[in-house]
Amino acid sequence: MTIYLNLNLAPDFRPVSGTLDNKAAFLNYPLGPREQRASLLKFAMPNVDFAKLVADTLEACDIYGLHKYRIGRDTDGNPKNDTGYLGMGLTYNPRHIDGQDVDPHQQVQGNHNPGAKGYQGVNPFSRINGAEARTYSKKNTHYDTYSMCYRTPGSRHGYLGEFINSFKRSMVRSSIRTIDASSREGQTRVNGEQLAGVSWHTDESMFENLRINIPVVTDPIFVLEQQGQTPVHLEAGYAYTWDTGLLHRAYTTEVTDQPVLRTHIMLGFSCWWDFDETTDTWRQNEFFGRKHPQDMLMDGDVIPNLQLVQ
Ligand SMILES: [Fe+2]
Repeated sequence: MTIYLNLNLAPDFRPVSGTLDNKAAFLNYPLGPREQRASLLKFAMPNVDFAKLVADTLEACDIYGLHKYRIGRDTDGNPKNDTGYLGMGLTYNPRHIDGQDVDPHQQVQGNHNPGAKGYQGVNPFSRINGAEARTYSKKNTHYDTYSMCYRTPGSRHGYLGEFINSFKRSMVRSSIRTIDASSREGQTRVNGEQLAGVSWHTDESMFENLRINIPVVTDPIFVLEQQGQTPVHLEAGYAYTWDTGLLHRAYTTEVTDQPVLRTHIMLGFSCWWDFDETTDTWRQNEFFGRKHPQDMLMDGDVIPNLQLVQ
C-alpha cells in the first residue's frame, strides 16, 4: 500500500518528516549503501552545459536577490545578519508560520525576520539542541524541511530551471549559497581567526535530505572540512556529496580586502518520498526501504547522468 500525506492535513505539533516517519518509518532506516564509498564523492556532469548553468544561476541571483543569512538578534534585540553568508532560495514553504511578509527567496536563509513570530512567539533562528528541537521544531517552522518543498520563481529561471526540471526526486530546503571572503563578521573560527562561512554543524540524515553541492563560481581559498579530515577545495563544474549528518563546515581560509565570492548550488533531496505541488501531497516512491539514497544518486535516480570521478 502506497502511503500519502497531504500537507494541509498534517498535524502542527511536529515537522512533516516526523508525521511521515510515523506513517512509514524512514528517518533512521536500517539500510546501508551497497558498498563502502569515500567520505566525499565527486561527480562529473557530462550532460550539463556548465557555462550556461553558471550564467543563468548568477542572473537568477541578480534578479531574485542574494539574501543575508539571519543568525538571531544582537544584544539590543535587533536582527542580526551574516554579511559573509548569502543566498537565494530554490524552495520555500508558502505556509511558513511567520507568514508571507518575506520574499520566498529569503525564507531558507535562517528564520523569518523582522516581524517573525515563530512557534509560541519565540523566534529561534538556526541551530538548536535536542531539547529545544522538541519545543520549536514543528510543522511550518524554520525546522520543517518537508514543508520547504515548493519551487521558488528563481528555481525556474533559464537554464538553472531546466537543470532543476531534469531532477528525478523532489527538492527540499535548497538554495544558492554564497560566501564572501571579505566579510569581517564571519561565523567560522579557525586557529583563532574569524572567517566567513558556516561553522561546525550537522544537517539531516541522508534518508531525510540527501545534499548535493555544485560549485558554480569559486576560488581555491574556499574549503570544505569534514570532521577528522583534511580540508578540501571543491572545484567548479562538479557535483559533490558527503554525509551531512556528520560534522562539517565550509569557509574561506583568508579574509580578502576585496569581495571574493564562492557560489554553490546547494541541493537537498527527499529520496523516498516524492512531492506533488499541485495537490500539496507527499507520496512514498518505489525506492522506499529498498535502495539507499547514496546508491540512488550513483544510479541516476536523483540527478540523471552523473559520473563518479572519485
Ligand atoms: Fe551543512
